[in-house]
Amino acid sequence: MRNTRVASAVGLHVSILFEPVTLSTNNGGFTLRNRAVVAPMCQYSVDAEDGVPTDWHLSHLGALAAGGFGLVIAEASAVNPAGRISPRDTGLWNEDQQEAWSRIVDLVHANGAAAGLQLAHAGAKASTWPMLPDFGDGSVPLADGGWTTVSASVTDIFGYAENRELSAEEIDGIVQDWADAARRADSAGFDMIQIHAAHGYLLHQFLSPLVNRRTDEYGGSYENRTRLVKEVVAAVREVWPAEKVLGIRFSGTDWVDDGWTLRETVQLSRELREMGVITFDLSSSGIGPYRGPRTGPGYQTPLAAAVKEGLEGTDAFVTAVGGVTTGVQAEHILATGQADGVAIARAALVNPHWAAVAASELEVPRMENPRAQQLWRGRW
Ligand SMILES: Cc1cc2nc3c(=O)[nH]c(=O)nc-3n(C[C@H](O)[C@H](O)[C@H](O)COP(=O)(O)O)c2cc1C
Repeated sequence: MRNTRVASAVGLHVSILFEPVTLSTNNGGFTLRNRAVVAPMCQYSVDAEDGVPTDWHLSHLGALAAGGFGLVIAEASAVNPAGRISPRDTGLWNEDQQEAWSRIVDLVHANGAAAGLQLAHAGAKASTWPMLPDFGDGSVPLADGGWTTVSASVTDIFGYAENRELSAEEIDGIVQDWADAARRADSAGFDMIQIHAAHGYLLHQFLSPLVNRRTDEYGGSYENRTRLVKEVVAAVREVWPAEKVLGIRFSGTDWVDDGWTLRETVQLSRELREMGVITFDLSSSGIGPYRGPRTGPGYQTPLAAAVKEGLEGTDAFVTAVGGVTTGVQAEHILATGQADGVAIARAALVNPHWAAVAASELEVPRMENPRAQQLWRGRW
C-alpha cells in the first residue's frame, strides 16, 4: 500500500479510494467523486405498500450522500408489484413512484453524490415478511396480502410458499417491465442502475441449476440459463442512455459445484461487458443454506478479484462488497488491485458518514474530505 504520509508530503493523491474516477460510458465518461459506493439496502419502509419511497428513504439516502460517498445505490426496487420481496418494498412501475424517486435523486445530487438504483424482481423469494424486528419470518399468507410467486421452475429450496413456473410469454412481460422501469429511472434522474442478478432472486433463479430445471430455451445449458439476464440487459440498454452507467450485481457463486459457479460468472461478465454493462458488483449466495467462507472481513473480495481479472483489458469497474468496514481495509483492496471500488452496506447503516470517516482515517486533507460543507466542523 502507498505510504500516505510520504504521498501527502510530496503533494500526491493520498488515497486511491478518494481519487475521483471516470467510468467508461459511451459518451466521454461519468465521473464519481470517489470509489466508495453505498450498496443497495432494502429499508422495508413503504407503510402504504404501494411501492412509493417515503421521507425515510429521502433522509436515509440524503444522509449517505452528505456523508461523502461517491455513489449511493438505492435499495432493490421492484420492476412490477409481484417482484417485491415484501409488501413494504419500493418499486418503479408507475408515475407516483417515479416522482417520489426524483425528489430523492435531487437531494442525493445536492449532497454531492451520484445516484444509483437497483432494479429487481424477487421471483420465488417475493411476498415475504419484511426483515424488520416487528415482523415474522417466511411468506406472507394470501389472506394477509401476500401473493403467489413465480420462478424459473417450481421450487421448494427457499422454504417459502408454493410458487409456479413462468411461461415464455410471462418472461417476455418481465423483460419489458425491466425496460419500462429503466426508462422511469432515467426520467427520475438516476445516473446509474444496477440490475439485481444476485441473492437468489429471479435472475439468479434462472442462472442457477439449483432452481432452474427448465427444459425450454431458458434452462439446461449455460447459454440457456443466462438467456434471461442477457435479454434484460439488452432491453434495458435500449432505453437507458449511453451517457449513464449500467451495472449488474451477481452472486459470484452458490458455493456448490452443481450450482452457479464463479467460472460462469466470469464468462457472463465478459459477455455483458460487450453488451454495455459497465459496473460489476460481486456478492454471493442466496439459494439454499450458506456454504461459503466465514463472513468475516472482505469475505467476498476474492470473487471481485476473479471477475476483475477476467475483465482485464476492458474498462469495467468492479466493486468488492461484504465485510468492508474501514478506510484502510478498503484502500488495501484497491491498492492491491483486487477491485476498482468498494461497496459498503452494514457499516454505512451504523454510520452514514462512513466515507467522511474513512477519508479522515486515510489522511485525506481536511479541505478535500467529501462530506457536505455543513458537516465540515465535525471532529474525530
Ligand atoms: C438492511 C440490509 C438490506 C439489504 N438490502 C439489499 C438489497 O436491497 N439489495 C441487495 O442486493 N443487497 C441487499 N443487502 C446486502 C448488502 O447490499 C450487502 O451485499 C451485504 O450486507 C454485505 O455487505 P456489508 O458487509 O458491507 O454489509 C442488504 C443488506 C442489509 C444489511
